[in-house]
Amino acid sequence: MNIKLTAQLPKTHTQKILKKEAKDKDSSCLVVLVDNNKNILASDSLTEYQERIEQLMAVSHFSGKACETVADYALAGDKKTTKANPLQLLIVGVGAIDKLNHSALQKIAKTIYQSTQKRVASLTIALGDALQENEFSQFALNLLAATYRFDKYKSEQTTPVLTDIYLLADNSLQSALDFAQSVFVGQSLTRDVANEPGNICFPAYMAEQAQELGKKYSDILKVTVLGEEEMSALGMECFLAVSRGSVREGKLVIMEYQGKSKFTANHSASYRDNASSAAKAGLKGIADKLPLKANTKKGSNSDAPIVLVGKGVTFDSGGISIKPGAAMDEMKFDMGGSASVLGTIQALCEARLPINVVGALACAENMPSGEATRPGDIVKAMNGKSVEILNTDAEGRLVLADTLCYIQRYNPKAIIDVATLTGACVVALGHVRSAVFSNDEDVLFELENASAQSGDLIWHMPLDDEYQSLLDSPIADMQNIGGKGAGAVTAACFLSRFVEEGQAWAHLDIAGTAWNSGKEKAATGRPVPLFMQYLKNSVDMA
Ligand code: BES
Ligand code: MN
Ligand code: ZN
Repeated sequence: MNIKLTAQLPKTHTQKILKKEAKDKDSSCLVVLVDNNKNILASDSLTEYQERIEQLMAVSHFSGKACETVADYALAGDKKTTKANPLQLLIVGVGAIDKLNHSALQKIAKTIYQSTQKRVASLTIALGDALQENEFSQFALNLLAATYRFDKYKSEQTTPVLTDIYLLADNSLQSALDFAQSVFVGQSLTRDVANEPGNICFPAYMAEQAQELGKKYSDILKVTVLGEEEMSALGMECFLAVSRGSVREGKLVIMEYQGKSKFTANHSASYRDNASSAAKAGLKGIADKLPLKANTKKGSNSDAPIVLVGKGVTFDSGGISIKPGAAMDEMKFDMGGSASVLGTIQALCEARLPINVVGALACAENMPSGEATRPGDIVKAMNGKSVEILNTDAEGRLVLADTLCYIQRYNPKAIIDVATLTGACVVALGHVRSAVFSNDEDVLFELENASAQSGDLIWHMPLDDEYQSLLDSPIADMQNIGGKGAGAVTAACFLSRFVEEGQAWAHLDIAGTAWNSGKEKAATGRPVPLFMQYLKNSVDMA
């Protein structure tokens, strides 16, 4: 889909016919937005259509409520109104203009796309100055997102007739439009990989997707993949406890987006420490792959990266604590967190934001087998803490725990992990807001800001110390599940134990927001818009 700003109304058929006969597919449509007081948005630019628009509203008893539509195909038409301007019109209600929130904008964008994509080649949407920059960005992204399809497994694909969208609005919005397009590219990748079934998308597939990006954006992106042997040498027994039941090898994928500086290019003393401990562990080759431990204090280095960590369980059967059969197929989406990190990294490469970001994809398949972890097994995480695995279905926190340990070698400015972590989160917040947990007020504030600006909504949940004791094990440092209540909180508490004192960190539980269930089963691409807004704001602050 091409999407552009324009200062002009579309050319009418008559203007075209003078030169060449208009083809069916050449048709274009003018989209007019009207609020619930019947005010026409961008009316200044629509004076030549005003009479026709008002007549249409009158004959159709148009009220202007959100997503109400009236189409005028301008076939025969009244001579006076359509002969001079025989352009198709689509009038779309937007409701109360001061209540134009994210979900209204999304529905309006979808309505416009769905009611035109099969019949016109181009649209001009008259926005004028009705939308502020954030709303404009959301609207543009929603229009683009409405064009997304995942029909590669259908033997017949339908191609839309619609190919061009023009937004009649001020050209000061160009950078907002460019940003929306970058987000769309990344979000579409997130949806693509998350929609793939488990027999196609397994850990090595995720690694390949990352490596493809590494090739495509080789000047700013470096990708490294750790396999099970390397993870074993690093002492990542929690991670390996999840992947061991599967014939698919687990992969830890590290993506270094270097938009500000080449932050792994120099060699510090602690880098050599890492190298020698890896050598002690009897491992050849891995020393080069270890990120350097920066010799600056936390937070004092403005080149320090923000690290995004994604849960990448490419299929979650539950393992030996096997899940019930109903809707188990939807557990192919259990890599939605790492898919969103992958997509965010691509969006960054497209937008070329001048910041440093590391993406870590913790990819494993959780399967039952003779090799699989048993309930009651005890393993040690990379930071030396022992974990009693009481339920093999609480696997996301296990792959994340070791990944969190590992990526702290970057001395990150902030760590944000993102995971389809708990069914309890879906019970608490449903499919509207993702849950956010954090040990740092600034990171939390910035995420909440980005949530409001992008419309990719989150809700703050607690992390009080009092919840921690639910993870006490009689035999190990901790167990991997809590009690009956507060399942999303105890999962977050578990993760917090792998974040070092003083390290700013937030955890997003996207179990309810990463995909739509049932008949509408499909990945949403969340929270790529949230992440991109957050990262963009972090540039503006610097
Ligand atoms: N991937 C699931 C969480 C999930 C469930 C996401 C439903 C979306 C919809 C996770 O690995 C899991 O199984 N969590 C368990 C934890 C429990 C065993 C403590 C859960 O939520 O039931
Ligand atoms: Mn599980
Ligand atoms: Zn899971």
